[in-house]
Amino acid sequence: MQTSAAARMEPTPVDDDDKILNINIYLADGSHFRREAIAGLRLLDLLRMYGFPVKAECGGACVCGTCHIRIPERWHNVLPPPTDEELAKLDDIPTADESSRLACQIETTDEMDGFEFVIQPDSLVPQTYWVAG
Ligand code: FES
Repeated sequence: MQTSAAARMEPTPVDDDDKILNINIYLADGSHFRREAIAGLRLLDLLRMYGFPVKAECGGACVCGTCHIRIPERWHNVLPPPTDEELAKLDDIPTADESSRLACQIETTDEMDGFEFVIQPDSLVPQTYWVAG
């Protein structure tokens, strides 16, 4: 069953039992931002929620490759492997390597407290100044 883009952007209700996850977001220049999340949130939606200017031109449909992130190897074991669709899109990104994933294809889980990833420069909207809320 397909989920509409509008439905995917609906805020996830927070339950008192939800575990708060600390997610570490880095830019290629080393800038670091720690943000809170709960399980079940796509990394792309997390980035948008906190104001990171990610291009994500297809809105999370896995067709544009402009939500390119890199994930340190120590975190690979908490993630499901990429689907064939994600792998095909990553193959189209010249700068992608074995640590690359698409932020629209990864959902947070309770095992991701302390998770780290780096937003790739080719996936950020060029801006002279921005603040991640
Ligand atoms: S937003 Fe287009 S591939 Fe992720």
